[in-house]
Amino acid sequence: MLKRTHTCGELRKSHIDETIILNGWVKKRRDLGNLIFIDLRDRYGVTQVIVDPSNYPDAHNSAKNIGREFVVAVEGKVSSRGEKINSDMPTGEIELLATKLEILNPSKTPPFPLDDDEETDDTRLTYRYLDLRRPHLQNAIQVRHKMALAARNHLDSQGFIEIETPILAKSTPEGARDYLVPSRVHPGKFYALPQSPQLLKQLLMVAGTDKYFQICRCFRDEDLRADRQPEFTQIDLEMSFADQEDIFKITEGFVTASLEAAGIEVEAPFTKITYKDAMEKYGSDKPDLRFDLQFVDISKFVANTNFNAFKSTLESGGIIKAVRAPNGTVLSRKQIDKLGDIARTSEAKGLLTVKYLPESKKQSPLTKFLTKEQWENIDTATCAVEGDILLIIADKHSVAHSALGNVRNELGQMLNLINKEEFSILWVTDFPLFAYDENEQRWTSEHHPFTSPHPDDIHLIESEPGNVRSCSYDLIMNGFETASGSVRIHDSELQKRIFALLNLSDSEINERFGFFINALKYGAPPHAGLAIGLDRLAMLALNRSSLRDVIAFPKTQKATDLMTEAPTGVDEVQLKELELKIAICEEK
Ligand code: AMO
Repeated sequence: MLKRTHTCGELRKSHIDETIILNGWVKKRRDLGNLIFIDLRDRYGVTQVIVDPSNYPDAHNSAKNIGREFVVAVEGKVSSRGEKINSDMPTGEIELLATKLEILNPSKTPPFPLDDDEETDDTRLTYRYLDLRRPHLQNAIQVRHKMALAARNHLDSQGFIEIETPILAKSTPEGARDYLVPSRVHPGKFYALPQSPQLLKQLLMVAGTDKYFQICRCFRDEDLRADRQPEFTQIDLEMSFADQEDIFKITEGFVTASLEAAGIEVEAPFTKITYKDAMEKYGSDKPDLRFDLQFVDISKFVANTNFNAFKSTLESGGIIKAVRAPNGTVLSRKQIDKLGDIARTSEAKGLLTVKYLPESKKQSPLTKFLTKEQWENIDTATCAVEGDILLIIADKHSVAHSALGNVRNELGQMLNLINKEEFSILWVTDFPLFAYDENEQRWTSEHHPFTSPHPDDIHLIESEPGNVRSCSYDLIMNGFETASGSVRIHDSELQKRIFALLNLSDSEINERFGFFINALKYGAPPHAGLAIGLDRLAMLALNRSSLRDVIAFPKTQKATDLMTEAPTGVDEVQLKELELKIAICEEK
Protein backbone atom coordinates (compact mmCIF):
# COMPACT_ATOMS: atom_id res chain seq x y z
CA MET A 1 0.00 0.00 0.00
CA LEU A 2 1.11 3.54 -0.76
CA LYS A 3 1.23 4.92 2.78
CA ARG A 4 0.42 8.60 3.19
CA THR A 5 3.19 11.12 3.73
CA HIS A 6 0.78 14.04 4.16
CA THR A 7 -2.90 14.63 4.88
CA CYS A 8 -5.44 16.02 2.41
CA GLY A 9 -5.63 19.34 4.24
CA GLU A 10 -1.96 20.05 4.56
CA LEU A 11 -0.37 20.91 1.24
CA ARG A 12 0.54 24.54 0.48
CA LYS A 13 2.71 26.51 -1.95
CA SER A 14 5.80 25.57 0.08
CA HIS A 15 5.31 21.90 -0.93
CA ILE A 16 5.49 22.61 -4.68
CA ASP A 17 7.74 20.13 -6.55
CA GLU A 18 7.76 17.64 -3.65
CA THR A 19 6.72 14.06 -4.36
CA ILE A 20 4.18 13.00 -1.77
CA ILE A 21 1.50 10.36 -1.10
CA LEU A 22 -2.08 11.04 0.01
CA ASN A 23 -4.66 8.55 1.31
CA GLY A 24 -8.31 9.47 1.41
CA TRP A 25 -11.86 9.21 0.11
CA VAL A 26 -13.02 10.33 -3.33
CA LYS A 27 -15.28 13.32 -2.68
CA LYS A 28 -15.79 14.03 -6.38
CA ARG A 29 -14.42 12.74 -9.70
CA ARG A 30 -14.67 14.63 -12.99
CA ASP A 31 -13.63 12.82 -16.14
CA LEU A 32 -12.76 15.35 -18.85
CA GLY A 33 -11.74 12.64 -21.31
CA ASN A 34 -8.07 13.40 -21.41
CA LEU A 35 -7.73 14.43 -17.73
CA ILE A 36 -9.44 13.09 -14.62
CA PHE A 37 -9.88 15.45 -11.66
CA ILE A 38 -10.36 13.96 -8.20
CA ASP A 39 -11.17 15.83 -5.01
CA LEU A 40 -9.60 13.68 -2.32
CA ARG A 41 -10.94 14.08 1.24
CA ASP A 42 -9.89 13.11 4.72
CA ARG A 43 -10.72 14.71 8.04
CA TYR A 44 -8.06 17.36 7.55
CA GLY A 45 -9.38 18.73 4.26
CA VAL A 46 -9.58 18.26 0.51
CA THR A 47 -6.85 18.22 -2.14
CA GLN A 48 -7.34 18.33 -5.90
CA VAL A 49 -5.62 15.48 -7.74
CA ILE A 50 -5.11 15.45 -11.53
CA VAL A 51 -4.54 12.21 -13.40
CA ASP A 52 -3.05 12.67 -16.88
CA PRO A 53 -3.11 9.58 -19.15
CA SER A 54 -0.27 10.74 -21.38
CA ASN A 55 2.45 10.18 -18.80
CA TYR A 56 0.85 7.76 -16.38
CA PRO A 57 -1.60 5.44 -18.18
CA ASP A 58 -1.80 2.98 -15.24
CA ALA A 59 -2.85 5.70 -12.79
CA HIS A 60 -5.39 6.94 -15.36
CA ASN A 61 -6.82 3.43 -15.85
CA SER A 62 -7.30 3.05 -12.10
CA ALA A 63 -8.85 6.52 -11.86
CA LYS A 64 -11.38 5.57 -14.56
CA ASN A 65 -12.75 2.85 -12.29
CA ILE A 66 -13.21 4.83 -9.13
CA GLY A 67 -16.42 6.38 -7.82
CA ARG A 68 -17.57 8.52 -4.94
CA GLU A 69 -16.26 7.45 -1.54
CA PHE A 70 -13.74 4.93 -2.90
CA VAL A 71 -10.69 4.81 -0.64
CA VAL A 72 -7.57 5.52 -2.67
CA ALA A 73 -3.86 6.18 -2.32
CA VAL A 74 -2.24 8.62 -4.72
CA GLU A 75 1.42 9.32 -5.24
CA GLY A 76 2.29 12.44 -7.15
CA LYS A 77 4.08 15.71 -7.48
CA VAL A 78 2.74 18.88 -5.87
CA SER A 79 2.22 21.52 -8.51
CA SER A 80 1.10 25.16 -8.56
CA ARG A 81 -2.43 25.90 -9.78
CA GLY A 82 -1.06 29.07 -11.38
CA GLU A 83 -3.93 31.42 -12.19
CA LYS A 84 -6.58 28.92 -11.12
CA ILE A 85 -6.16 29.37 -7.38
CA ASN A 86 -9.26 28.34 -5.38
CA SER A 87 -9.32 30.71 -2.43
CA ASP A 88 -12.24 28.82 -0.81
CA MET A 89 -9.96 25.84 -0.12
CA PRO A 90 -6.95 26.02 2.23
CA THR A 91 -5.13 23.76 -0.29
CA GLY A 92 -6.42 25.88 -3.19
CA GLU A 93 -3.00 27.10 -4.34
CA ILE A 94 -1.77 23.63 -5.32
CA GLU A 95 -2.83 20.40 -6.98
CA LEU A 96 -1.34 16.94 -7.02
CA LEU A 97 -0.23 15.52 -10.40
CA ALA A 98 -0.73 11.78 -9.88
CA THR A 99 1.98 9.35 -10.88
CA LYS A 100 0.47 6.30 -9.15
CA LEU A 101 -3.08 5.59 -8.00
CA GLU A 102 -4.06 2.59 -5.92
CA ILE A 103 -7.65 1.68 -5.03
CA LEU A 104 -7.53 0.64 -1.38
CA ASN A 105 -11.23 -0.18 -1.17
CA PRO A 106 -14.23 0.45 -3.42
CA SER A 107 -17.46 1.92 -2.05
CA LYS A 108 -21.15 1.55 -2.84
CA THR A 109 -22.76 4.84 -3.85
CA PRO A 110 -23.73 6.60 -0.59
CA PRO A 111 -27.49 6.98 -0.04
CA PHE A 112 -27.27 10.78 0.46
CA PRO A 113 -24.91 13.68 -0.34
CA LEU A 114 -21.91 13.97 1.94
CA ASP A 115 -21.02 17.60 1.39
CA ASP A 116 -24.08 19.53 2.49
CA ASP A 117 -25.10 21.05 5.79
CA GLU A 118 -28.60 19.51 5.85
CA GLU A 119 -30.00 18.37 9.18
CA THR A 120 -29.31 14.79 10.12
CA ASP A 121 -32.44 12.73 9.40
CA ASP A 122 -33.30 9.07 10.01
CA THR A 123 -31.52 7.80 6.85
CA ARG A 124 -28.39 9.67 7.85
CA LEU A 125 -28.60 8.22 11.36
CA THR A 126 -28.89 4.71 9.88
CA TYR A 127 -25.64 5.37 7.98
CA ARG A 128 -24.11 7.58 10.66
CA TYR A 129 -20.55 6.50 9.69
CA LEU A 130 -21.19 8.17 6.31
CA ASP A 131 -23.02 11.16 7.76
CA LEU A 132 -20.02 11.76 10.03
CA ARG A 133 -17.76 12.20 7.00
CA ARG A 134 -19.43 15.56 6.39
CA PRO A 135 -17.01 18.39 7.16
CA HIS A 136 -19.27 20.21 9.64
CA LEU A 137 -19.70 17.04 11.69
CA GLN A 138 -15.99 16.21 11.52
CA ASN A 139 -15.37 19.74 12.73
CA ALA A 140 -17.94 19.42 15.53
CA ILE A 141 -16.37 16.20 16.82
CA GLN A 142 -12.92 17.79 16.80
CA VAL A 143 -14.06 21.01 18.48
CA ARG A 144 -15.87 18.98 21.14
CA HIS A 145 -12.65 17.07 21.80
CA LYS A 146 -10.67 20.31 22.13
CA MET A 147 -13.29 21.76 24.47
CA ALA A 148 -13.21 18.68 26.73
CA LEU A 149 -9.41 18.69 26.68
CA ALA A 150 -9.22 22.39 27.62
CA ALA A 151 -11.61 21.80 30.52
CA ARG A 152 -9.67 18.75 31.68
CA ASN A 153 -6.35 20.60 31.50
CA HIS A 154 -7.72 23.58 33.38
CA LEU A 155 -9.19 21.43 36.15
CA ASP A 156 -5.94 19.46 36.39
CA SER A 157 -3.99 22.73 36.67
CA GLN A 158 -6.21 23.72 39.61
CA GLY A 159 -5.53 20.51 41.54
CA PHE A 160 -8.67 18.56 40.55
CA ILE A 161 -8.30 14.80 40.17
CA GLU A 162 -10.27 12.85 37.57
CA ILE A 163 -11.86 9.81 39.18
CA GLU A 164 -14.09 7.26 37.46
CA THR A 165 -17.23 6.22 39.30
CA PRO A 166 -19.19 3.04 38.50
CA ILE A 167 -21.58 2.70 35.59
CA LEU A 168 -23.21 -0.34 37.18
CA ALA A 169 -24.63 1.66 40.04
CA LYS A 170 -27.50 2.16 42.41
CA SER A 171 -30.27 4.49 41.38
CA THR A 172 -29.55 8.19 42.12
CA PRO A 173 -32.49 10.53 42.44
CA GLU A 174 -32.06 13.09 39.64
CA GLY A 175 -35.73 13.09 38.78
CA ALA A 176 -35.74 11.02 35.58
CA ARG A 177 -36.42 7.31 35.18
CA ASP A 178 -33.45 4.95 35.47
CA TYR A 179 -32.08 2.61 32.84
CA LEU A 180 -31.91 -0.75 34.56
CA VAL A 181 -29.44 -3.60 34.05
CA PRO A 182 -30.39 -7.04 35.36
CA SER A 183 -27.87 -8.87 37.51
CA ARG A 184 -27.06 -12.49 36.54
CA VAL A 185 -25.43 -13.26 39.87
CA HIS A 186 -28.36 -11.86 41.82
CA PRO A 187 -31.41 -12.92 39.84
CA GLY A 188 -34.28 -10.45 40.08
CA LYS A 189 -31.99 -7.61 41.13
CA PHE A 190 -30.94 -4.68 39.00
CA TYR A 191 -28.21 -2.14 38.70
CA ALA A 192 -29.21 1.34 37.60
CA LEU A 193 -27.09 3.22 35.08
CA PRO A 194 -26.12 6.49 36.77
CA GLN A 195 -28.25 9.56 36.04
CA SER A 196 -25.21 11.39 37.40
CA PRO A 197 -22.45 10.53 39.88
CA GLN A 198 -24.09 12.83 42.46
CA LEU A 199 -23.89 10.70 45.60
CA LEU A 200 -20.55 9.13 44.74
CA LYS A 201 -18.87 12.47 44.20
CA GLN A 202 -20.20 13.63 47.55
CA LEU A 203 -18.83 10.44 49.12
CA LEU A 204 -15.47 11.24 47.52
CA MET A 205 -15.53 14.47 49.52
CA VAL A 206 -16.18 12.46 52.71
CA ALA A 207 -13.22 10.32 51.57
CA GLY A 208 -10.96 13.38 51.60
CA THR A 209 -10.49 13.66 47.81
CA ASP A 210 -10.98 17.43 48.18
CA LYS A 211 -11.22 18.29 44.47
CA TYR A 212 -12.83 15.77 42.12
CA PHE A 213 -13.85 15.93 38.50
CA GLN A 214 -14.96 13.49 35.86
CA ILE A 215 -15.95 13.72 32.23
CA CYS A 216 -18.62 11.12 32.57
CA ARG A 217 -21.52 9.55 30.77
CA CYS A 218 -24.96 9.91 32.38
CA PHE A 219 -28.13 8.00 31.50
CA ARG A 220 -31.68 9.25 31.86
CA ASP A 221 -34.85 7.67 30.58
CA GLU A 222 -36.84 10.86 30.01
CA ASP A 223 -38.78 12.60 27.25
CA LEU A 224 -36.27 13.61 24.60
CA ARG A 225 -35.88 16.92 22.77
CA ALA A 226 -33.29 18.52 20.54
CA ASP A 227 -31.27 19.41 23.65
CA ARG A 228 -31.84 16.14 25.53
CA GLN A 229 -30.38 12.71 24.80
CA PRO A 230 -30.91 9.54 26.85
CA GLU A 231 -27.14 9.28 27.35
CA PHE A 232 -25.03 12.37 27.51
CA THR A 233 -21.76 13.63 28.93
CA GLN A 234 -21.22 15.83 31.95
CA ILE A 235 -18.12 17.58 33.15
CA ASP A 236 -18.88 16.86 36.77
CA LEU A 237 -17.02 18.36 39.71
CA GLU A 238 -17.11 18.59 43.48
CA MET A 239 -14.97 20.55 45.92
CA SER A 240 -14.53 20.41 49.71
CA PHE A 241 -14.45 23.43 52.06
CA ALA A 242 -15.95 25.37 49.18
CA ASP A 243 -18.83 27.78 48.84
CA GLN A 244 -20.82 29.03 45.86
CA GLU A 245 -18.19 31.63 44.92
CA ASP A 246 -15.44 28.96 44.79
CA ILE A 247 -17.54 26.88 42.39
CA PHE A 248 -18.25 29.96 40.24
CA LYS A 249 -14.55 30.77 40.03
CA ILE A 250 -13.42 27.29 39.05
CA THR A 251 -16.31 26.90 36.59
CA GLU A 252 -15.66 30.27 34.99
CA GLY A 253 -12.04 29.19 34.55
CA PHE A 254 -12.71 25.92 32.76
CA VAL A 255 -15.74 27.18 30.81
CA THR A 256 -13.74 30.18 29.54
CA ALA A 257 -10.88 27.87 28.52
CA SER A 258 -13.26 25.41 26.90
CA LEU A 259 -15.12 28.08 24.92
CA GLU A 260 -11.82 29.62 23.88
CA ALA A 261 -10.86 26.23 22.42
CA ALA A 262 -13.96 26.62 20.24
CA GLY A 263 -12.97 30.16 19.25
CA ILE A 264 -15.42 31.95 21.57
CA GLU A 265 -14.29 34.64 23.96
CA VAL A 266 -16.30 35.29 27.09
CA GLU A 267 -15.40 37.47 30.00
CA ALA A 268 -15.29 36.24 33.59
CA PRO A 269 -16.73 36.80 36.13
CA PHE A 270 -20.06 36.00 34.51
CA THR A 271 -23.19 38.08 35.21
CA LYS A 272 -25.32 36.89 38.12
CA ILE A 273 -29.06 37.19 38.63
CA THR A 274 -31.28 35.64 41.29
CA TYR A 275 -34.06 33.28 40.28
CA LYS A 276 -36.62 35.80 41.60
CA ASP A 277 -35.20 38.65 39.50
CA ALA A 278 -34.91 36.43 36.42
CA MET A 279 -38.57 35.47 36.71
CA GLU A 280 -39.75 39.02 37.42
CA LYS A 281 -37.67 40.65 34.68
CA TYR A 282 -37.65 38.00 31.95
CA GLY A 283 -40.26 35.41 32.98
CA SER A 284 -37.73 32.60 32.75
CA ASP A 285 -35.12 30.89 34.90
CA LYS A 286 -33.00 30.62 31.78
CA PRO A 287 -33.31 34.01 30.12
CA ASP A 288 -31.63 34.60 26.79
CA LEU A 289 -29.89 37.94 27.36
CA ARG A 290 -28.71 38.34 23.77
CA PHE A 291 -31.72 40.67 23.66
CA ASP A 292 -33.08 42.86 26.43
CA LEU A 293 -36.88 43.24 26.61
CA GLN A 294 -37.35 43.50 30.37
CA PHE A 295 -40.82 43.32 31.88
CA VAL A 296 -42.38 46.33 33.60
CA ASP A 297 -44.88 45.98 36.45
CA ILE A 298 -47.69 48.39 35.57
CA SER A 299 -50.06 47.27 38.37
CA LYS A 300 -49.68 50.47 40.37
CA PHE A 301 -50.46 52.70 37.38
CA VAL A 302 -53.81 51.04 36.72
CA ALA A 303 -54.91 50.48 40.31
CA ASN A 304 -58.25 52.27 39.99
CA THR A 305 -59.30 51.28 36.51
CA ASN A 306 -62.66 49.79 35.63
CA PHE A 307 -61.11 47.56 33.02
CA ASN A 308 -62.43 44.24 34.25
CA ALA A 309 -59.43 41.99 33.58
CA PHE A 310 -57.14 44.38 35.47
CA LYS A 311 -59.57 45.02 38.27
CA SER A 312 -60.27 41.35 39.04
CA THR A 313 -56.57 40.44 38.76
CA LEU A 314 -55.53 43.11 41.25
CA GLU A 315 -58.40 42.27 43.62
CA SER A 316 -57.27 38.65 43.73
CA GLY A 317 -53.65 39.60 44.47
CA GLY A 318 -52.37 39.16 40.92
CA ILE A 319 -50.07 41.36 38.87
CA ILE A 320 -50.11 43.25 35.56
CA LYS A 321 -46.91 42.98 33.58
CA ALA A 322 -45.96 44.56 30.27
CA VAL A 323 -43.19 44.04 27.78
CA ARG A 324 -42.35 46.55 25.07
CA ALA A 325 -41.79 45.16 21.58
CA PRO A 326 -39.60 47.78 19.90
CA ASN A 327 -40.93 48.58 16.46
CA GLY A 328 -43.53 45.89 17.08
CA THR A 329 -46.15 47.54 14.86
CA VAL A 330 -44.41 45.81 11.94
CA LEU A 331 -45.82 42.52 13.25
CA SER A 332 -48.69 41.11 11.21
CA ARG A 333 -52.11 40.24 12.59
CA LYS A 334 -51.12 36.57 12.30
CA GLN A 335 -47.95 37.09 14.29
CA ILE A 336 -49.80 38.93 17.04
CA ASP A 337 -52.39 36.14 17.12
CA LYS A 338 -49.53 33.67 17.52
CA LEU A 339 -48.24 35.62 20.52
CA GLY A 340 -51.76 35.49 22.00
CA ASP A 341 -51.86 31.71 21.46
CA ILE A 342 -48.49 31.36 23.20
CA ALA A 343 -49.78 33.33 26.18
CA ARG A 344 -52.92 31.20 26.39
CA THR A 345 -51.11 27.87 26.07
CA SER A 346 -48.91 29.14 28.91
CA GLU A 347 -52.11 29.29 31.01
CA ALA A 348 -52.62 33.08 30.82
CA LYS A 349 -56.18 34.25 30.33
CA GLY A 350 -55.14 36.45 27.44
CA LEU A 351 -52.63 38.88 25.95
CA LEU A 352 -53.50 42.56 25.63
CA THR A 353 -51.82 44.68 22.99
CA VAL A 354 -51.32 48.43 22.76
CA LYS A 355 -50.14 49.72 19.38
CA TYR A 356 -48.28 53.05 19.48
CA LEU A 357 -49.47 54.76 16.30
CA PRO A 358 -48.35 58.10 14.75
CA GLU A 359 -49.49 61.37 16.34
CA SER A 360 -49.47 59.83 19.82
CA LYS A 361 -52.48 57.65 19.03
CA LYS A 362 -52.90 54.27 20.64
CA GLN A 363 -54.84 51.29 19.40
CA SER A 364 -55.90 48.95 22.15
CA PRO A 365 -59.01 47.56 23.88
CA LEU A 366 -57.66 49.49 26.87
CA THR A 367 -57.64 52.99 25.42
CA LYS A 368 -60.92 54.22 26.78
CA PHE A 369 -60.43 52.72 30.23
CA LEU A 370 -57.27 54.58 31.22
CA THR A 371 -56.80 58.27 31.98
CA LYS A 372 -54.25 60.51 30.30
CA GLU A 373 -52.16 60.42 33.45
CA GLN A 374 -52.28 56.62 33.65
CA TRP A 375 -51.09 56.39 30.05
CA GLU A 376 -48.29 58.87 30.72
CA ASN A 377 -47.09 56.77 33.62
CA ILE A 378 -47.18 53.61 31.54
CA ASP A 379 -45.37 55.26 28.60
CA THR A 380 -42.64 56.58 30.87
CA ALA A 381 -42.15 53.30 32.74
CA THR A 382 -42.08 51.13 29.60
CA CYS A 383 -40.31 53.70 27.34
CA ALA A 384 -42.84 52.80 24.63
CA VAL A 385 -42.81 55.18 21.63
CA GLU A 386 -44.40 55.45 18.21
CA GLY A 387 -43.94 52.22 16.27
CA ASP A 388 -43.83 50.00 19.35
CA ILE A 389 -46.32 47.52 20.72
CA LEU A 390 -46.87 46.92 24.39
CA LEU A 391 -47.86 43.37 25.30
CA ILE A 392 -49.62 43.01 28.63
CA ILE A 393 -50.65 40.06 30.79
CA ALA A 394 -52.81 40.37 33.90
CA ASP A 395 -52.77 37.17 35.96
CA LYS A 396 -51.47 35.56 39.11
CA HIS A 397 -47.73 36.21 39.51
CA SER A 398 -46.38 32.85 38.36
CA VAL A 399 -48.61 32.71 35.26
CA ALA A 400 -48.06 36.37 34.28
CA HIS A 401 -44.29 35.88 34.46
CA SER A 402 -43.93 32.56 32.71
CA ALA A 403 -46.49 33.36 29.99
CA LEU A 404 -44.93 36.75 29.25
CA GLY A 405 -41.53 34.98 29.30
CA ASN A 406 -42.68 32.68 26.51
CA VAL A 407 -44.06 35.68 24.60
CA ARG A 408 -40.70 37.46 25.08
CA ASN A 409 -38.79 34.49 23.64
CA GLU A 410 -41.02 34.40 20.57
CA LEU A 411 -40.66 38.19 20.16
CA GLY A 412 -36.88 37.78 20.16
CA GLN A 413 -37.25 35.48 17.14
CA MET A 414 -40.05 37.38 15.36
CA LEU A 415 -38.35 40.77 15.59
CA ASN A 416 -34.89 39.34 14.86
CA LEU A 417 -33.56 40.75 18.10
CA ILE A 418 -31.05 37.95 18.70
CA ASN A 419 -27.53 38.79 17.70
CA LYS A 420 -26.17 35.36 16.70
CA GLU A 421 -22.60 36.65 17.03
CA GLU A 422 -23.12 37.36 20.71
CA PHE A 423 -22.75 34.77 23.46
CA SER A 424 -24.88 35.35 26.55
CA ILE A 425 -23.68 33.65 29.70
CA LEU A 426 -25.00 34.16 33.22
CA TRP A 427 -25.46 32.53 36.60
CA VAL A 428 -28.96 32.19 37.98
CA THR A 429 -28.84 31.78 41.77
CA ASP A 430 -31.10 31.24 44.78
CA PHE A 431 -33.58 28.83 43.22
CA PRO A 432 -36.45 27.71 45.42
CA LEU A 433 -35.48 24.57 47.35
CA PHE A 434 -38.84 22.87 46.89
CA ALA A 435 -41.58 22.77 44.27
CA TYR A 436 -45.10 21.53 44.98
CA ASP A 437 -46.18 18.63 42.79
CA GLU A 438 -49.96 19.08 42.33
CA ASN A 439 -50.36 15.56 40.87
CA GLU A 440 -48.60 13.79 43.68
CA GLN A 441 -49.81 16.36 46.25
CA ARG A 442 -46.40 16.66 47.88
CA TRP A 443 -43.25 18.76 47.94
CA THR A 444 -40.40 17.70 45.66
CA SER A 445 -36.83 18.95 45.34
CA GLU A 446 -36.33 21.64 42.73
CA HIS A 447 -32.69 20.51 42.17
CA HIS A 448 -32.02 17.35 44.19
CA PRO A 449 -32.53 16.49 47.86
CA PHE A 450 -28.86 17.03 48.79
CA THR A 451 -29.00 20.75 48.00
CA SER A 452 -28.41 23.00 50.98
CA PRO A 453 -31.18 25.41 51.97
CA HIS A 454 -30.20 29.07 52.07
CA PRO A 455 -28.89 29.65 55.65
CA ASP A 456 -31.39 32.51 56.18
CA ASP A 457 -34.35 30.27 55.28
CA ILE A 458 -33.63 27.08 57.26
CA HIS A 459 -36.24 28.02 59.86
CA LEU A 460 -38.94 28.00 57.15
CA ILE A 461 -38.41 24.40 56.01
CA GLU A 462 -41.43 22.97 57.80
CA SER A 463 -43.61 26.11 58.05
CA GLU A 464 -43.22 27.70 54.60
CA PRO A 465 -41.42 25.24 52.33
CA GLY A 466 -42.44 27.23 49.23
CA ASN A 467 -40.46 30.24 50.45
CA VAL A 468 -37.20 28.42 51.20
CA ARG A 469 -34.42 29.46 48.87
CA SER A 470 -31.61 27.04 48.12
CA CYS A 471 -27.87 27.46 47.65
CA SER A 472 -28.14 26.28 44.09
CA TYR A 473 -27.17 27.81 40.78
CA ASP A 474 -27.53 27.22 37.06
CA LEU A 475 -25.27 28.43 34.29
CA ILE A 476 -27.33 29.74 31.39
CA MET A 477 -25.98 30.22 27.89
CA ASN A 478 -28.04 31.77 25.10
CA GLY A 479 -31.23 30.77 26.92
CA PHE A 480 -30.19 27.15 27.58
CA GLU A 481 -29.42 25.62 30.95
CA THR A 482 -25.92 24.22 30.51
CA ALA A 483 -24.84 23.60 34.09
CA SER A 484 -26.41 23.07 37.46
CA GLY A 485 -24.99 22.73 40.92
CA SER A 486 -25.31 23.54 44.57
CA VAL A 487 -23.76 23.78 47.96
CA ARG A 488 -24.59 20.43 49.58
CA ILE A 489 -25.98 19.48 52.93
CA HIS A 490 -23.18 17.98 55.04
CA ASP A 491 -25.17 17.63 58.25
CA SER A 492 -27.09 14.35 58.56
CA GLU A 493 -29.79 15.89 60.79
CA LEU A 494 -30.56 18.64 58.26
CA GLN A 495 -30.54 16.03 55.50
CA LYS A 496 -33.13 14.05 57.48
CA ARG A 497 -35.37 17.14 57.84
CA ILE A 498 -35.29 17.61 54.07
CA PHE A 499 -36.18 13.96 53.44
CA ALA A 500 -39.01 14.23 55.95
CA LEU A 501 -40.44 17.28 54.17
CA LEU A 502 -40.22 15.34 50.90
CA ASN A 503 -42.41 12.76 52.61
CA LEU A 504 -39.90 9.95 52.40
CA SER A 505 -40.44 7.37 55.11
CA ASP A 506 -37.57 6.17 57.30
CA SER A 507 -37.56 2.82 55.54
CA GLU A 508 -37.51 4.48 52.09
CA ILE A 509 -34.67 6.77 53.20
CA ASN A 510 -32.76 3.81 54.56
CA GLU A 511 -33.26 1.65 51.53
CA ARG A 512 -32.36 4.34 49.02
CA PHE A 513 -29.78 6.49 50.77
CA GLY A 514 -28.96 4.75 54.04
CA PHE A 515 -25.31 4.38 53.01
CA PHE A 516 -25.16 8.06 52.20
CA ILE A 517 -26.78 9.38 55.39
CA ASN A 518 -24.48 7.12 57.33
CA ALA A 519 -21.43 8.55 55.54
CA LEU A 520 -22.47 12.10 56.49
CA LYS A 521 -21.98 11.05 60.13
CA TYR A 522 -18.28 10.26 59.59
CA GLY A 523 -16.85 13.74 59.24
CA ALA A 524 -18.34 14.96 55.96
CA PRO A 525 -16.66 18.27 55.08
CA PRO A 526 -18.70 21.23 53.83
CA HIS A 527 -18.73 20.80 50.06
CA ALA A 528 -20.25 22.10 46.85
CA GLY A 529 -20.20 21.18 43.19
CA LEU A 530 -21.69 21.38 39.76
CA ALA A 531 -22.07 19.53 36.48
CA ILE A 532 -22.08 21.02 33.02
CA GLY A 533 -23.52 19.26 29.98
CA LEU A 534 -20.60 18.91 27.58
CA ASP A 535 -22.93 18.12 24.68
CA ARG A 536 -24.97 21.29 25.29
CA LEU A 537 -21.84 23.37 25.75
CA ALA A 538 -20.44 22.12 22.44
CA MET A 539 -23.78 22.55 20.67
CA LEU A 540 -23.98 26.19 21.76
CA ALA A 541 -20.33 26.93 21.02
CA LEU A 542 -20.82 25.56 17.52
CA ASN A 543 -24.10 27.44 17.10
CA ARG A 544 -26.04 24.27 16.25
CA SER A 545 -29.61 23.63 17.31
CA SER A 546 -29.43 19.91 18.09
CA LEU A 547 -27.23 17.69 20.25
CA ARG A 548 -27.13 15.29 17.27
CA ASP A 549 -24.57 17.56 15.68
CA VAL A 550 -22.04 17.17 18.48
CA ILE A 551 -22.53 13.52 19.50
CA ALA A 552 -20.90 10.90 17.30
CA PHE A 553 -23.65 8.30 17.65
CA PRO A 554 -26.80 10.03 18.90
CA LYS A 555 -30.17 8.42 19.49
CA THR A 556 -33.52 9.41 18.02
CA GLN A 557 -36.33 11.08 19.96
CA LYS A 558 -37.60 7.57 20.66
CA ALA A 559 -34.22 6.66 22.19
CA THR A 560 -33.33 4.23 19.42
CA ASP A 561 -30.01 3.86 17.66
CA LEU A 562 -31.06 3.48 14.04
CA MET A 563 -27.62 2.23 12.98
CA THR A 564 -27.34 -0.71 15.37
CA GLU A 565 -31.11 -0.93 15.91
CA ALA A 566 -30.67 -0.86 19.69
CA PRO A 567 -32.68 -1.53 21.76
CA THR A 568 -33.34 -5.06 20.52
CA GLY A 569 -34.79 -8.22 22.00
CA VAL A 570 -32.38 -10.71 23.54
CA ASP A 571 -32.27 -14.44 22.99
CA GLU A 572 -33.74 -17.04 25.30
CA VAL A 573 -30.32 -18.19 26.49
CA GLN A 574 -29.48 -14.74 27.80
CA LEU A 575 -32.84 -14.46 29.53
CA LYS A 576 -32.42 -17.91 31.05
CA GLU A 577 -29.01 -16.97 32.43
CA LEU A 578 -30.60 -13.95 34.04
CA GLU A 579 -33.51 -16.09 35.23
CA LEU A 580 -35.88 -13.62 33.62
CA LYS A 581 -39.09 -14.10 31.63
CA ILE A 582 -40.60 -11.39 29.48
CA ALA A 583 -44.23 -10.52 30.01
CA ILE A 584 -45.23 -7.14 28.58
CA CYS A 585 -48.06 -5.61 30.61
CA GLU A 586 -51.04 -4.56 28.52
CA GLU A 587 -52.15 -1.55 30.51
CA LYS A 588 -49.79 1.26 31.49
P1 AMO B 1 -28.56 18.35 36.18
O1 AMO B 1 -29.54 17.24 36.22
O2 AMO B 1 -29.10 19.72 36.16
O3 AMO B 1 -27.59 18.29 37.45
O4 AMO B 1 -27.59 18.14 34.94
C1 AMO B 1 -26.49 18.99 34.72
C2 AMO B 1 -26.38 19.34 33.25
O5 AMO B 1 -26.36 18.16 32.45
C3 AMO B 1 -26.96 18.43 31.19
N1 AMO B 1 -28.07 17.49 30.96
C4 AMO B 1 -28.34 16.91 29.76
N2 AMO B 1 -27.74 17.03 28.57
C5 AMO B 1 -28.23 16.30 27.55
N3 AMO B 1 -29.27 15.46 27.65
C6 AMO B 1 -29.90 15.30 28.84
N4 AMO B 1 -30.91 14.42 28.95
C7 AMO B 1 -29.45 16.05 29.97
N5 AMO B 1 -29.82 16.15 31.26
C8 AMO B 1 -28.98 17.03 31.84
C9 AMO B 1 -27.47 19.86 31.22
C10 AMO B 1 -27.56 20.12 32.71
O6 AMO B 1 -27.44 21.49 33.01
N6 AMO B 1 -25.91 16.01 39.75
C11 AMO B 1 -26.36 17.31 39.29
C12 AMO B 1 -25.24 18.33 39.24
C13 AMO B 1 -24.73 18.78 40.59
O7 AMO B 1 -25.57 19.16 41.43
O8 AMO B 1 -23.53 18.76 40.78
C14 AMO B 1 -26.96 17.16 37.89
O9 AMO B 1 -26.79 16.16 37.22
O10 AMO B 1 -26.50 20.69 30.59
